This record gives sequence, C-alpha cells and structure tokens, in this order.
Amino acid sequence: MDLDRYTRRIVVTGGAGFIGSNLLLYLVAKCPDYLFINVDCLTYAANLGNLASIENLPNYRFERIDIRDYPRIQDCFERYRVDSLIHLAAESHVDRSIIGPAPFIDTNIVGTFNLLEAARRRLGQTGSFRFHHVSTDEVFGSLGPEGYFSEQSAYGPNSPYSASKAAADHLVRAYHRTYGLDTVTTNCSNNYGPFQFPEKLIPLMIRNAGAGQPLPVYGDGEHVRDWLYVVDHCEALDLVFHRGETGQTYTIGGQCEIRNIDMVRRICRILDEKLGGGPREDLITLVKDRPGHDRRYAIDPSRVQRELGWTARVGLDEGLRRTVQWYVDNADWLQRCVSGEYRKYYDMMYSDR
Ligand code: NAD
Ligand code: TYD
Repeated sequence: MDLDRYTRRIVVTGGAGFIGSNLLLYLVAKCPDYLFINVDCLTYAANLGNLASIENLPNYRFERIDIRDYPRIQDCFERYRVDSLIHLAAESHVDRSIIGPAPFIDTNIVGTFNLLEAARRRLGQTGSFRFHHVSTDEVFGSLGPEGYFSEQSAYGPNSPYSASKAAADHLVRAYHRTYGLDTVTTNCSNNYGPFQFPEKLIPLMIRNAGAGQPLPVYGDGEHVRDWLYVVDHCEALDLVFHRGETGQTYTIGGQCEIRNIDMVRRICRILDEKLGGGPREDLITLVKDRPGHDRRYAIDPSRVQRELGWTARVGLDEGLRRTVQWYVDNADWLQRCVSGEYRKYYDMMYSDR
C-alpha cells in the first residue's frame, strides 16, 4: 500500500465500539487524505458490522490487535508509519468494573502505557506524534447539587473504571511533560446515540421497554447525568485532535442534565407514542443502588466552545427521539447484541495473532 499518498496516518483504537464506530464513520468519509487504522481486539462491546459502509474504502484498515500486546502495537505503528493516535479502546462499563476490575487495569492503564511507549518510539524516529487520549468526566468523581467539572477540577475517581481512566490520564500528562509527546486529552460526559451496547442506561431501557421487561433504576433514581449526543462528541474530538493545544485537556459536555428516573420516563413516553401500548413507565423498578454510585456529573464546556468554536448541536429532545428511532429501526442489531450473534465469525475472519 502506498502510505505516502496519505497526509496523515492515524490509529484509532476501539474503533469497533460505540463512540469509535461513530467517529470512524464521521472521519473516514470527511478526511479522504488521511489513512485510518482501526485497532481493536473485538471484545464483547465491539461490532464490526457498524463499519460496513466504510470497510472497503481505501483510507480505512482494520487490525485486530489487543493494546495489551506491546510488540504487536509497536509493529503496527511502524508498519503503517503512524503519526497520530486517537485512543478510545477501553473497558468502559462501571458495573462490570465493580464485578471484575482486572481487565480495566490491564486495558485502560497498561494498554494506554503500551500506546504511549509506541508513540514515544515514533516520536524518537520522526520528531512528532500527536496522541489524543479520549477520557471521561468520571475521573473527577461526584458533584453535589451545584457546580460543574472543568479543566481545573481535581481528580477524585470512585469506581475501578474511573480510577483506571484517571491513571491513564496521568500517564498521558506525564509523557507530555517528561518526553515532550504532543498530547491532548478530552474528558467527556455520558454519550448516547446509535451503536451503544445495551448494557448502558439508554439502550438498555429502550430494549427492555420495547420487550415489556422491567426497567431497573438504581437507588432512588435521583442521580444526575449530563448527556451528549455521540455525533456532537465526534465533532468535538475532530476539533481537539486538529486544533487542541499540546499538553492541554478539554472538558466536553452537552449541558443536558437530567435525573435518571426522568430520563427513563422520557424514553417510555417516546416509545408509547411511537409504538402505542403502555404506559411503559409502569415497568420502572427501583433496584439496589450501585456501590460508589456518583450522584451528579455536569460539565462546563466553555473552554472548548471559546477556544475551538465547538457547540453541541443536538439537544436532548431531538437526540433522544433520533436514538429511540434508531433502536426501533435496528431491532435486529439490538437482538444480535443480546444473543452475541454479531461475534460469531470474528475468530474465523480476524486472527488476533
Ligand atoms: P465501548 O465499550 O463501546 O467500546 C470500547 C472498544 O474498545 C470496543 O470496540 C472494544 O473491543 C475495544 N477494546 C477494549 N479493550 C481492548 C483492548 N485491550 N485492545 C483493543 N481494543 C480493545 O466504549 P465507548 O463507550 O465507545 O467508549 C470509548 C471511549 O470513550 C472509552 O475510552 C471511554 O472511557 C470513553 N468515554 C465514553 C463515554 C460514554 O458515555 N460511552 C463518555 C466519555 C468517555
Ligand atoms: P451508565 O449508562 O452505566 O453510565 P455511567 O455509569 O458511566 O454514568 O449509567 C448511567 C446512569 O444510569 C448511572 O447513574 C447509573 C444508572 N443506571 C441505572 O439506574 N440502571 C441501569 O440499569 C444502568 C445500566 C444504569
């Protein structure tokens, strides 16, 4: 393959997951002069079917590699003469991190370390390497009823997931300060939209409500999240990747705060309108709270707005309607996630050795 034909050669890790799929669908079409190499080991959260519309484009490649495997990461970076990275690969679900934290430590911390080392090596060979680390607002812990997370917020993670992401953020910072690696970090609030695995609140509730099954809301349901439509996040990632100041961090959020119980009620009402029947609100069941459950997240995105001109374009009403419609229209996608059928051919088609 003629690598020189591309002005940039960018590894996107976790490109078969929820945000990664949306990002690649957005960037691969938008930037035909860049080569995108999707590095993903295909955990339960991955679905290559999401990328069917770009899989044959010349500026897209898929590599089944585990970021815990340093020699294969280094080989990939050198084979493609990679000059940039957008790092999304992670174990991402808080509940799973509570049940079994080990893979979160291995992938989110050691995996990020491996990528930093491979990037440092490329920096030594070529003199430049942009490393965009995609992180979460959960690293800051929990807010009370007032205030917002911003780039100045202190770290205070409360779950094994958020602690592992916080550790990765610190490593990225250290590689900038110590080795001069050209890093940017984004800390984003909860995303929603197409292709989100139905273990997370919104797709889980859409699925269960559609199937007439209980809607388990943790604790008193008064926990607040600040939701961002995933395409808006992708636009922010694009801006920060291209124009973010080296060594800096950016907090990104939709300024759409809502209590979990109200979110689930809204989903029920949209489904009642679209599909008839209901009221699906009757399926809401308050269940035992998640241990260490953060009470409130909310982002002050004024830096990314002011400095990079970003703004969330899709409000919660519009975004939720689009999302519910997508899951209704793609009931087979949802069904294949639940049955695991989407993974059936991976081992046959994509060797991970
Ligand atoms: P996801 O769980 O949907 O996808 C993660 C992807 O990473 C999957 O394709 C999986 O196969 C891959 N992966 C996991 N371990 C790997 C490994 N060891 N090697 C290679 N690939 C591996 O996650 P998501 O929701 O798309 O989140 C993407 C990133 O954005 C994560 O870093 C997450 O912390 C961050 N983030 C997510 C949200 C959100 O609301 N979903 C909000 C803020 C930040
Ligand atoms: P989740 O989608 O897991 O995202 P995160 O924990 O990263 O914020 O959960 C969003 C909120 O919804 C969180 O406060 C936990 C709550 N929740 C429920 O009440 N019931 C559920 O079944 C799930 C999965 C989450």
